[in-house]
Amino acid sequence: MSRVLVIGSGGREHALAWKLKQSKSVEEVFCAPGNCGIVDCAITIPDIKVDDFKGLANLVRTFEIDLTVVGPEVPLVNGIVDYWLDKGLIKEGHFIFGPSKKAARLEGSKTYAKRFMQRHGIPTANFRNFSDPCRAISYIKKQEAPIVVKASGLAQGKGAIVCHTLDDAVRAVDQIMVKKVFGDSGNKIVIEEFMPGEEASILALTDGTTILPLVSSQDHKPIYNNEKGPNTGGMGAYAPAPIVTKSVMKKIKEQILIPTIQGMRQEGSPLIGCLYAGLMIDNGQPRVVEYNLRFGDPEAQPVLTLLENDLFLLLNACVNGKLHEHKIMNKQGAACCVVMASGGYPGKYETDKIISGLDEAAKIPNTYVFHAATKIENEIFITNGGRILGVTGTGSNIEEAINTTYSCVSKISWQDEYHRTDIGQKALRNTQ
Ligand code: AMP
Ligand code: GLY
Repeated sequence: MSRVLVIGSGGREHALAWKLKQSKSVEEVFCAPGNCGIVDCAITIPDIKVDDFKGLANLVRTFEIDLTVVGPEVPLVNGIVDYWLDKGLIKEGHFIFGPSKKAARLEGSKTYAKRFMQRHGIPTANFRNFSDPCRAISYIKKQEAPIVVKASGLAQGKGAIVCHTLDDAVRAVDQIMVKKVFGDSGNKIVIEEFMPGEEASILALTDGTTILPLVSSQDHKPIYNNEKGPNTGGMGAYAPAPIVTKSVMKKIKEQILIPTIQGMRQEGSPLIGCLYAGLMIDNGQPRVVEYNLRFGDPEAQPVLTLLENDLFLLLNACVNGKLHEHKIMNKQGAACCVVMASGGYPGKYETDKIISGLDEAAKIPNTYVFHAATKIENEIFITNGGRILGVTGTGSNIEEAINTTYSCVSKISWQDEYHRTDIGQKALRNTQ
């Protein structure tokens, strides 16, 4: 029997801990720092934060953790996997699921990722990299709108600005490179062609040689219905995504996933972990919008809910180079996740609101409420951030999954609660 540590504190980490806890090979799940909902399926260690590598390594030795699963991108990009190697943890049998610092550049630097795709002929938008704002602006003046301006470094999913006029693009360069709204992440930028189409996410597990995609999914990034308003960390997701037909999936594997892991291996930074390809699909042709090297949030909630396999066995196979021995099996039907957020998010919002209805929600079959930012005071759940809950439901088809999920959402409330009411509508349109 094994012991597992999940690093992180959001809905994604709750879904990971929940799924890992179901493994017959797992004796105990720990989560650092975790949150008040995760206590359902893991022992949480609230005092150890995701960037405290020393504290996390101590915890792994103290609790004899066999496998650590890293949720968010920041510790990966900052080299937590290299730290495990350098400090001898892996030699002692404490494995860690995630890419090395060098491999995590595929997420941490859009400049690097775009050049990588160019070197390996992986379909993506045409682009230019800039480290000088004047040069970026004179380049923009010779282009046509719409055009996309992106901070090269990490920006919590908010670093890409889709500009509908060239003036907007010039302003975006000023915001990112001169005003530094994303800090040093905006020292370099990527300016790229606007790709029309519909987006989908593919989360794929890899041991560096074999890559196995999980069920396709679709995120909903803007705050308002019909993809309006500013981008957020994600307001909901569903799986599978009908836009990813069998023939599109074949192209994704052959033109994107396999060349990506082969290219990384050839370049001396084999990829181990979850390769999350953010894709734009237009007329049946997928192109990469961005790479992430971790599970998507909220996509992980519906994707892991549909996964039939024992997640621990899959992740363990990734860190031991044995993924070729496995095959992904998904449950029939569909899953939907609606994020319930604090009113005002992604701008200013208030916290400490009393959440009611969680007990009623728990009675609805085929649903699970993943916690993203809650705390408990006097035995009452209260809000503790922007995205609070990821209410997830399944059904024999997407329509049923959507209905079940929203019936669960309707039981839960707090003052100024906000959620989108159209999660999954695109899937309904695509299946009609
Ligand atoms: P990113 O941070 O690169 O994932 O971009 C955030 C969002 O901006 C994506 O999910 C897309 O909706 C949009 N986006 C980014 N790049 C492009 C592009 N080249 N063409 C069209 N939309 C894009
Ligand atoms: N769903 C967007 C992300 O995880 O980055």
